[in-house]
Formats: sequence, C-alpha cells, structure tokens
Amino acid sequence: MRVLVTGGAGFIGSHFAKRLLRSGDDVVVLDKLTYSGNPANLEGTEVELVVGDICDPRAVERTAKGCEAIVNFAAETHVDRSILGATDFGRTEFVGTQTLLELVRKTEARYVQVSTDEVYGDLETGGSSRESDPLCPSSPYSVAKAAGDLHIPAYVRTFGIQACITRGSNTYGPNQYPEKLIPLFATNALDGKPLPLYGDGKQIRDWLYVEDHCAGIEAVLRRGRSGEIYNIGGGQEVENIEVAERIIELTGADPLLLQHVDDRPGHDRRYSLSCEKATRELGWEPVVPFTEGLAQTVAWYDESRPWWEPIKSGEHYQAYYERQYADRLGNVE
Ligand code: NAD
Ligand code: DAU
Repeated sequence: MRVLVTGGAGFIGSHFAKRLLRSGDDVVVLDKLTYSGNPANLEGTEVELVVGDICDPRAVERTAKGCEAIVNFAAETHVDRSILGATDFGRTEFVGTQTLLELVRKTEARYVQVSTDEVYGDLETGGSSRESDPLCPSSPYSVAKAAGDLHIPAYVRTFGIQACITRGSNTYGPNQYPEKLIPLFATNALDGKPLPLYGDGKQIRDWLYVEDHCAGIEAVLRRGRSGEIYNIGGGQEVENIEVAERIIELTGADPLLLQHVDDRPGHDRRYSLSCEKATRELGWEPVVPFTEGLAQTVAWYDESRPWWEPIKSGEHYQAYYERQYADRLGNVE
C-alpha cells in the first residue's frame, strides 16, 4: 500500500514511516520542516520526502496522488511554545486537517488523525479517560488538537469517508526534539547542565515508547473501524521528578543539577488513558516497560551527539530560518 505520512520528518512520524517501510509499504512524507522537522530522521531510508505544508491544497493533492491511506502527524507539538503563541498551532490543526480531509473526500483513501490524551484535560483527582469522554482541553496546544479532531466525525458522517482518530499518551524514544522533558533532561544531564523541573515535579504523565505508539497507530490504520477513536497509552504513570531522578542515575550526572523552577502556566497535573478498546478490538498492547525504554533512549542520546548537538547549538535552527526566508516552502510544482 502507498501511504502519505504528513509530519513524517518529525519524531513519531519518522518512526512510523520507517515501520511501514519494514512492513513492505511504500511511503511518501509531506512535511513543512518546521524547527522540529528533521530530514536526518529519514536519512538512509527509501522514504520520499516532499517539503510542503498540509494547509496548502495543491501540495497535498500532488503529494497524495496514488496513496491509499493518509496518516496525519503534522502539528505544532510543544505545550510551552503554544503558551508563547498559538497561531501556528491552530492553523495547522484546523486548516491543515480540513485541507487533508477535503482531499480524502475526493478519493478512496483511508485517513488516520494522530491526536493526544491532552484533549481530555487534567485528571488530577483520579480515573482514566475513555474514548467517549468529553473534550476538556486546557492549553492552547490541546485546544488546537481538539479542534483538529472535531473535523473527523463530521467528514465521516457527512461524506462517508473512512477515518479514525488515535489519542496517544506521552511518547519518548530516539529522535525526539530536545525541548520535551525526556530528551531535554537527558541531553542536559549528559552535558552537565541544569534540569529545570516545573513546580513541585509531582505532575504525572503516562509514558509510551515510540515503537509501541507506532504499533498502535498501525493497528488502527489497518484494522480500526471508521468513525472510531482509539486511545493508545503506555499504562505507565510516573511523576516527573521520578523521571528526572532516573535520568540522573542513568547518565551518572550530579543530582544537584535537578532544579525546581517556576511552574508552567495552567499546567495539567495528570493524564491517564483507558486503552481497553484498542486491546479488545485491535489486539494492541504496549510491550516496552518504562525502565527499559528510558534506558535505551538515554543510551541513544549518549551515542547520538551528531544528531542533537546541531539542534542545541542553534545550527539546525539557523537552517530552519534560512529555509523560511529563502521561501523554499512547497517544493511541489
Ligand atoms: P514533532 O514536533 O517531532 O513533529 C511534528 C512534525 O510536523 C514536524 O516534522 C514538523 O515539521 C511537521 N509539521 C508541522 N506543521 C506542519 C504543517 N503545517 N505541514 C506539514 N508539516 C508540518 O512532533 P511529534 O512528537 O512527532 O508528534 C507528532 C504527532 O503526534 C502530533 O500530531 C502530536 O500532537 C501527536 N502526539 C505526540 C505525542 C508526544 O508525546 N510526542 C503524544 C501524543 C500525540
Ligand atoms: O500527553 C501527550 C503530549 O505529551 C503530546 O500531545 C505533546 O505533543 C507532548 O509535547 C507531550 O506534552 P507534555 O506537555 O506532557 O510534554 P513535555 O515533555 O513538554 O512535558 C512533560 C512534563 O514535564 C510536563 O508535566 C511538564 C514537565 N516539564 C517539561 C519540560 C520541557 C518540566 O518539568 N520541565 C521541562 O523543562
């Protein structure tokens, strides 16, 4: 099957594209190459990379030609950045998702929207979110994700397209941009720099190894029922302070590097997913224990300085701005 993976030069999308290749599928990636999109993530693979924006109908139509499925990972993904300014978050989720669905309407392509547990909001007082729970997003990032999600049932109902939504929990693994908790703390610890822990560090996230997340999305792509939402969670809820302490232990860094800093505004205390539906209907379950996945991930960052040093030094960022100003977006004729 030929599959269009949008946002496939980013963290999870690039792992997913490589997974499909291993299954014998043919993959084309459409990616705007924002600061977090990195062609190095696809280097040495057979993936065809087209630089373009999912909000651009022409780029979408030309890149999707001949594709039997579209899996949409393209998004602005960092909550802290959404607090500084959310325009691109809303544009990519609302206009971009709609642009992809307008194309899907005119084809037989199957569609998967990759979403997040954050759309259910904060579960500080306990319990786990189910797919039927109401949307209750609390950051500009999660509002944008929820807005993207809202298109899917409407297009299934109105136009009879074949589409599903996945809602994944906090994902970690190799190739994650070092602004998110685990890669930021791992690379800072390796460099002997401070680990800035927000507030009391007692916030809880449900950690999911990237290959487990991709296996869940693949199961939904191949066997998900159209119109359905599937939660894809790691089932491993850990406080941020414990994540930080484990990284310090794995890297042998000085424990004094761990520093409490001001909390994130509006910070959600806890997310938790019930994934009973994905297990029952699709036979999917996460298999990588957090301790094992974290050790592998920290080891990868330790061995992969050529991947992350240009990002942290600003060299990668410089290339991103040069691309923007050179107006090279959309190399699709
Ligand atoms: P990422 O930031 O590493 O990758 C996002 C990719 O999308 C980048 O390559 C970027 O260049 C591209 N992109 C952004 N705007 C675009 C646009 N308008 N057109 C085309 N490409 C565009 O993020 P990630 O962690 O790999 O997340 C991928 C998806 O998974 C996102 O939709 C995110 O919301 C979702 N998700 C992430 C997590 C997580 O913990 N990382 C968990 C659940 C869901
Ligand atoms: O839950 C899924 C979501 O997980 C995805 O949809 C998002 O794209 C992804 O970014 C992630 O969001 P979080 O805000 O949970 O991830 P982040 O890695 O930014 O932060 C994880 C926790 O660690 C959160 O409670 C904030 C805290 N944190 C984060 C950073 C970057 C710190 O304490 N210090 C930090 O420097």
